[in-house]
Amino acid sequence: MRRIIIAGNWKMNKTSFEAIELVNVLKRDLSTVKEVDIVVCPPFTALTEVSDLLVETNIELGAQNVYWEDSGAFTGEIAGSMLKHIGVKYVIIGHSERRQFFAETNETVQKRIKAALKNELTPIVCIGESLKEREANQTFAVIKNQFEGGFAGFTPQEILKMVIAYEPVWAIGTGKTATAQQAQEVHQYIRDLLKTKYGEETAEEIRIQYGGSVKPENIRELISQTDIDGALVGGASLQADSFSKIVKNCCPVLK
Ligand code: 13P
Repeated sequence: MRRIIIAGNWKMNKTSFEAIELVNVLKRDLSTVKEVDIVVCPPFTALTEVSDLLVETNIELGAQNVYWEDSGAFTGEIAGSMLKHIGVKYVIIGHSERRQFFAETNETVQKRIKAALKNELTPIVCIGESLKEREANQTFAVIKNQFEGGFAGFTPQEILKMVIAYEPVWAIGTGKTATAQQAQEVHQYIRDLLKTKYGEETAEEIRIQYGGSVKPENIRELISQTDIDGALVGGASLQADSFSKIVKNCCPVLK
């Protein structure tokens, strides 16, 4: 049985003051939720404050990126040990915005995953096709390429420590959600890739989140699909009310 995992990717939003306000409300609204793993991923500048607020709560902390070296002359970068030290548990890797705007490649994704695992951080690894690729019927080929490149060289034990997020680029921040069926089709394909590479038992344990215009209104249908195990939420995670509703709407659904 896979536990549902809902993560909020705040992207480049919220000062540390605003982050504290949001997290205080989330803590209150979500304190009774036991059925779902809840994660918030603020920007680096708010991690320490949010970490302090989340001690002994049911909400865990994620970062939005990690560099692959341990330390040294890498101006502007953040190492896995630095995140671990302040209580970060998850780290988003390979988000499409990083692939699109910051020259992220399958190779750098793979290096970041390694660094995360080395520091006992759970990577949330993002893959997904653009609209152009979907329209050219390349969705599965793109997913396969990102999967084979980013996940190259990991053992089943290592893969089990990861979460995968399928985020079709055309659905991110556009209000256009993939239909539950469209998403399920790709999630099933990802699980099949996992089966081929790591065996059925391992593949069945790995959680695959959907991301792209997730809202309180569409989460339930999405997670009722066999291979959708949660969501990576952008815009709707910036307001306590919508994020809490998304989490709570998952509660009655057990897989
Ligand atoms: P939106 O929920 O704003 O579409 O963003 C999705 C996303 O990119 C989460 O990582």
